[in-house]
Amino acid sequence: MKVRALLLGLVAVGLSTTAAAADPIVIKFSHVVAQDTPKGKAADKFKELAEKYTAGAVKVEVYPNSTLYKDKEEMEALQLGAVQMLAPSLAKFGPLGVREFEVFDLPFIFDSYEDLHKVTYGQVGQQLFSKLEPKGIKGLAYWDNGFKSFSANSPIKKPEDLKGKKMRIQSSKVLEEQMRELKALPQVMAFSEVYQALQTGVVDGTENPISNLYTQKMHEVQKHLAITDHGYLGYAVITNKKFWDGLPANVRTSLEKAMKESTEYANKIAKDENDQSLEMVKKSGKTEVTQLSKDERLAFKKALVPVHKKMESRIGAELIESIYKETGFDPAKL
Ligand code: LMR
Repeated sequence: MKVRALLLGLVAVGLSTTAAAADPIVIKFSHVVAQDTPKGKAADKFKELAEKYTAGAVKVEVYPNSTLYKDKEEMEALQLGAVQMLAPSLAKFGPLGVREFEVFDLPFIFDSYEDLHKVTYGQVGQQLFSKLEPKGIKGLAYWDNGFKSFSANSPIKKPEDLKGKKMRIQSSKVLEEQMRELKALPQVMAFSEVYQALQTGVVDGTENPISNLYTQKMHEVQKHLAITDHGYLGYAVITNKKFWDGLPANVRTSLEKAMKESTEYANKIAKDENDQSLEMVKKSGKTEVTQLSKDERLAFKKALVPVHKKMESRIGAELIESIYKETGFDPAKL
């Protein structure tokens, strides 16, 4: 009897160690946008490559469209280890106590993706990542989305057109100041709630890269869209530092390779995705799209660049200067 029990016990131990050896490491990757967006596609690409390069030792579960966590909750979930990877917009790090990322929200600070990449692929981008470490977070990569445009239910051609409008923003003090500069009324709101807020009139308008506007169907509840390209929206792909550092070295190396390649993919498709979304919005006939003239856009730029100076004390004059240095932007020359 005793021998039988011992044998059964050994079989059970054997089974559980086999099961443990075969159990993949699960990475839950949560995000708030649709799958058919630059970030959604890049997250799916990372899943594909990570599983391939680790030969199944890692399983990536991607949860798009706020199905697992919304904006605010996802940061907490990452710190608690309930989720292992996120790619929040750079405008959403303020509540975590890392204000410097809001430098990316300064209106008109980047003229193009090329200018932006001097920062995100360079030293400044790496320095910003080091600010996350004391929070238990590790920055892995910067993924592009694109340049934002304003939408509302009334025409937008000049800065004054947004006066008095309730405008949804992400949780960034720079964006708050940007809206105040236009005499609009900023309202911080989770991304998952914007469509309904626009539909019911809780807010009058918002700002988005067109891929976000289109995939959330916001164009169906916004009569006007002005192509202002007044600010950048992109992402930091982040992970729980303890989780990342605890991975077997060979697994980590494979994941780094998967991340590098999905970053190249993300940053290659972002512009096209936004261009295609703009075509779809135009085709829908639901929103009137206004292409601003050079002078009209310049009027927005002149109205909004003063935000840089006003936000110096929050973000740090030195950081803003270091970006000007990379891109050649000179606020005195408009
Ligand atoms: C937003 O809240 O508007 C964006 O940050 C959503 C996103 O992740 O692109």
